[in-house]
Amino acid sequence: MKYESQRIAYWFFATCMLLFGLQIVYGFIMGFAHAGMDGLHDLIPFHTARATHTNLLVMWNLAGFMGAAYYIIPEESERELYWPMLAKVQLVALVVVGVTAIVGFHVGWFEGRKFLEIPRPLDFLVVVDVLLFIANIAMTIWKGKRITTTSSVLFFGLLMAALLYLPGMIPTDNQTEDSYWRWWVVHLWVEGVWELIMGGILAFLLIKLTGIDREIIEKWLYVIVGLTFLSGILGTGHHYYYIGTPRYWLWIGGIFSALEPLAFLGMAIYGITMAKKGGRKHPNRTALAWTVGTCVMSFVGAGFLGFAHTIPQVNMYTHGTLVTAMHGHMAFWGAYAMLVLAIISYTMPLLTGRKLYDTPSATFAFWTSNIGMIAMTLAFAVAGVTQVVLERRMGMEFLAVQTEIEVHFWGLILAASLFTLGVIAFLYNFIRHGLPKGEVQGGRPAEDDEPEDEVALETAPGAAE
Ligand code: HEM
Ligand code: HEM
Ligand SMILES: [Fe+2]
Repeated sequence: MKYESQRIAYWFFATCMLLFGLQIVYGFIMGFAHAGMDGLHDLIPFHTARATHTNLLVMWNLAGFMGAAYYIIPEESERELYWPMLAKVQLVALVVVGVTAIVGFHVGWFEGRKFLEIPRPLDFLVVVDVLLFIANIAMTIWKGKRITTTSSVLFFGLLMAALLYLPGMIPTDNQTEDSYWRWWVVHLWVEGVWELIMGGILAFLLIKLTGIDREIIEKWLYVIVGLTFLSGILGTGHHYYYIGTPRYWLWIGGIFSALEPLAFLGMAIYGITMAKKGGRKHPNRTALAWTVGTCVMSFVGAGFLGFAHTIPQVNMYTHGTLVTAMHGHMAFWGAYAMLVLAIISYTMPLLTGRKLYDTPSATFAFWTSNIGMIAMTLAFAVAGVTQVVLERRMGMEFLAVQTEIEVHFWGLILAASLFTLGVIAFLYNFIRHGLPKGEVQGGRPAEDDEPEDEVALETAPGAAE
């Protein structure tokens, strides 16, 4: 850690951990409900649990991106955050809005639009909060000593994510139009601008963890940004197949979204190549595992499993089934959840001064959560394909099919328990690091920034702890 104000990242990450834990609780509530044990129904009906589960996910991912930016931007710009106090206020405001939204869902205050359930008045508060965050980051970059490709891509991704929230607030009574705009947020986030945020954070992590020249790593970043825009923007069409939009979307959506895996393939090749090339061993192997893991698992979850249902002829049958949930879990996990866990794993030793990498619990957390998530994805896949065959091919009634596939949710619950063990180990490690009392090592000139903190860490007493 080189700047005092980077410490604020810790509080964003602690928020992530809390919300992540809560998200899992709601996942189990739904898992049991699907298995036929819906005892909590009167208190927490399925739609409430679902909205809570997915909104908590989005909230902790966003909190993770913000924490990452508050850590990365000062270091890249070589100065303290422009308004450190504002960062704290902005975190508190985010939590207050989030808690209000979640409580609201439980008393029936919500919009009922998948992923955008947060009621309109709270939407405005979200926008204000995110704009404050963007302003803080923008001023830090602007007043900083240097503007790097990494910080520019990260900033542009964050700015576009904020702006793309707005189309989701366009008022309309027309269901097709509503869906049309909703995808500008949901799709253009995860298959567009969030990929830029991902590219920026990955570039920072790879520069730090592999010691490879910034120039080489940042060249890859241009390729990934290019591929993302080329495929992802018109790829939105894969959500416009059968919702009342013109027929040309079948072609546009099919062709461009089929190209989307290329960006994720690019990231996978990039991550693996850089990790292999980076000869110098950084002591924080756990952070490198999460970083390369993000590159690989996002390709499988988003690229491969996304491709599996993106062609109109397939999507006609799989749309809105558990096949979507199969893809949604592995994609969100691989791309964004693992990315946040990667930056947390890298920064925690620096923020707290406790070098607890490569401990058995850190290794256990990585492998158990990932194997658990692969098993969960398989359970959703089996349930999803069975649902498609019975409901869409054989014409059985929706609820009859749901009863038929209950058994597969016991498989999901088992897999999710394994996954949760891994997450508990991660939380345990996070708590064990303690509070952000790490030493500030002071700013340094631009030329020699890359290898320094690693060397400092490697030689630090207790590095092998
Ligand atoms: C990290 C990137 C990605 C994430 C986090 C992600 C996540 C999701 C989620 C949560 C949904 C459900 C959304 C909803 O119904 O409201 C969804 C739907 C979908 N995704 Fe992805 N996705 C990603 C990348 C991709 C890619 C690259 C492709 C294609 C190659 C793809 C293809 C699809 C399709 C076709 C649907 C619609 C499914 C349906 O009709 O029910 N996704 N995705
Ligand atoms: C450990 C526990 C978890 C369990 C038991 C669980 C279970 C579920 C269930 C049953 C659904 C509802 C599917 C439906 O609509 O019928 C769901 C939705 C969803 N969950 Fe999870 N989940 C867990 C963890 C996670 C994690 C860690 C992530 C992301 C990293 C995640 C992302 C999602 C997403 C994106 C959806 C919406 C999918 C869609 O739109 O089809 N879940 N989850
Ligand atoms: Fe999409």
